Amino acid sequence: MALRIHNLSIDPPLALAPMVGLTHSVFRSLLVELGGVGLLYSEMLSAKRLPAENADLTPGLIRSSLEFPLFYQIWANEDTDLVAAVRKIEELNGQGIDLNLGCPAPQLRKMGAGRYLLERPDRLMPVLRRIRTSTTLPLSVKIRIGPTADPAALLLTCRMLEEQGVDLIVVHARLAGEKFCRKPRWQLLDVLPQRLSIPFFANGGIFTVQDARDCLTLSGADGLMIGRGAVQWPWLISAIARDIYGHKSPLAYSSPEQLYFTYIDLLMARFPPERRLGRLKQFTHHFAASLPFGHSLASTIQSSGSMKEARTRAAVFFEQSDNQSLTEEV
Ligand SMILES: Cc1cc2nc3c(=O)[nH]c(=O)nc-3n(C[C@H](O)[C@H](O)[C@H](O)COP(=O)(O)O)c2cc1C
Repeated sequence: MALRIHNLSIDPPLALAPMVGLTHSVFRSLLVELGGVGLLYSEMLSAKRLPAENADLTPGLIRSSLEFPLFYQIWANEDTDLVAAVRKIEELNGQGIDLNLGCPAPQLRKMGAGRYLLERPDRLMPVLRRIRTSTTLPLSVKIRIGPTADPAALLLTCRMLEEQGVDLIVVHARLAGEKFCRKPRWQLLDVLPQRLSIPFFANGGIFTVQDARDCLTLSGADGLMIGRGAVQWPWLISAIARDIYGHKSPLAYSSPEQLYFTYIDLLMARFPPERRLGRLKQFTHHFAASLPFGHSLASTIQSSGSMKEARTRAAVFFEQSDNQSLTEEV
């Protein structure tokens, strides 16, 4: 069931969440090869810095031709030159733009961006209007439910966003200050279907195909955005695409070991030396959680001093483990 936004077909309506340090070119291209992902997002980028960034060197802008369709997520405040940021995203061949309105991080708050901007509609509306009038690219926003569990307030917020020309709203189903370990509140989103004329995606806490089914049923969302679950088990999105949307995906990587070493190879090929190990450690922290005895992979990679050492240690880990091939883990 494809979703259309302007000329863009999102098929199936399953998006990979923006995650700093995780959803860069290497991970995005692996997910495309695994199949089932209908929409990719960049990591959060500063709209102010974006126009001057070098697309071949800036980690958040490195991209391969496989990574399509890709929305660039920006954070901005009312003083940002949004026309220049939008031009850059068009030059980069972005298929869409996402404005981060959910991030509560103090650094963003201090800059007047993220959640801070959403809390001040008088400042937010001109920002959205400037993006909307300077491009025909699809515009999405990513928000959380709000400061309290108030469905009426959520609906008002979403209507305001819709009136400003937003094409897709992604709702992370947690309250503004809630930690990621808290159970997501998918049901609170069920005030949105039929009351908005634009689609919305639900996000938060989807780690299995059954979670995806439950989230769709409870929220009534038009699609899903998945973050940590896809890093823990990169086959998750293709399994959801197959089981819920009837998509047939190729089994591009037949074992976690094969995927892990391809991840290392792609990091080596695409990122400058000083940008590799940190990303490998961050990825391994999540990916290892789905492997038997994965904590020992996570801790041995965490204490590695170089990519070479990390590769050698990973080889020992996989040799000692059962080199499991793929099973119906999700
Ligand atoms: C390491 C990490 C980095 C994140 N970076 C971003 C970001 O750049 N922009 C954003 O909108 N959300 C960011 N998020 C939030 C995710 O996009 C998502 O909303 C959250 O992880 C809940 O979804 P999940 O349970 O499927 O992971 C980040 C989350 C994590 C764990």
